[in-house]
Amino acid sequence: MLDAPHFCDLFSEDTGAPAHYEFLDSRTKKGPKPLMKKSPKPLMINGKGTIAIKSRTTQGVKFTVKPEIGYPMLILEITQSTVSFSLRGESEDIPLVPNVMSEGNPYVPAEELDHATEPQIQTHRLPVTVDLPPLVVTNELVSLRDLDLARVTTWANLPEACQKLYHNIVGKNIVLQDTSEFDFAAAIHHSVTTPGCWGYSKLLEKCHNDTNRFQYTYLRITIGSNLGNSPGIPYVMEIWPPGHKSPIHDHGDACAVIRVLYGKIQCTWYNSLGPDPIKLCNPATLIKDQITWLGNNQFQCHALENTESETCITLQCYEFPREDNVHAEKFRFIEATTNKIAKEPFIPNSDCTLTDFYDYMKAEWSPKNNGEN
Ligand SMILES: [Fe+2]
Repeated sequence: MLDAPHFCDLFSEDTGAPAHYEFLDSRTKKGPKPLMKKSPKPLMINGKGTIAIKSRTTQGVKFTVKPEIGYPMLILEITQSTVSFSLRGESEDIPLVPNVMSEGNPYVPAEELDHATEPQIQTHRLPVTVDLPPLVVTNELVSLRDLDLARVTTWANLPEACQKLYHNIVGKNIVLQDTSEFDFAAAIHHSVTTPGCWGYSKLLEKCHNDTNRFQYTYLRITIGSNLGNSPGIPYVMEIWPPGHKSPIHDHGDACAVIRVLYGKIQCTWYNSLGPDPIKLCNPATLIKDQITWLGNNQFQCHALENTESETCITLQCYEFPREDNVHAEKFRFIEATTNKIAKEPFIPNSDCTLTDFYDYMKAEWSPKNNGEN
């Protein structure tokens, strides 16, 4: 039978011999000798997953994960007084965590690892196998084929904060136009594309009349109050005139869901803000009523762009995850002109409340302005 330390070891083979237990005597510090005195035998790892290892050695241990040939190697070395985790390339070792273990202290405080420097690695309870898809649908819409191809997810798989936001904005009454007073979408399009109108003037004001930055402007129309648990007001209607786009940006580690209320928006996801952000997958064009999401660990960096000829209107909803005690109220972004992370991050603001915006559009609208007879 297997001995206790190997019950959870998928790679252990049962020799049929009785289990043999050896215990370390903590008073005398005498115990079993280190298990490996010779060179260790390599263990093949196929695919992704968790490597669970239980060691009884009183000496240091060293783990090396490497491809069959060449580099890179991941090397974790632990002794009674030090720990180091590094990436070994052909010519240099790159430390992945700072060595913060102090002399005689056998523990590395997790919070020191997280905040000592810009974190380069993260730890999670479960292994990362495949990412969740970016598109969220109700359980009524998901099919076996969707699950097989992992092309959509249901809300239940999302982080808790995204689930709550999703429920608040998935209903059939969350629409742009809920009265017949006037054509709200047409009035918005006219306003943001016509010089002299309220929307166009506001966009110019946001880029300080810098025509090079004009295409990077969009309107943020806030809905409701700031509840103190999101970067800025949690519900924001964003207005994207044709050809306008956001820079590549993150979201202060907040969770978010985004629903298209009108038109289409192209969403491109990135692994980080850089240097040299890498696209995670092909950009997706989201159409009316489609909902996408982002969490503190997935899809945190993206860029939105309206590539259509019609204005797009989206509903952005934000909330910090329950475990987030930092509440970074700023979005970092890549400055389009320098291609570097901007020194001053974006503070989520409000260009107008929805109530005022509705009144401005109503006052500006006329059938003639919007191409009607
Ligand atoms: Fe965003």
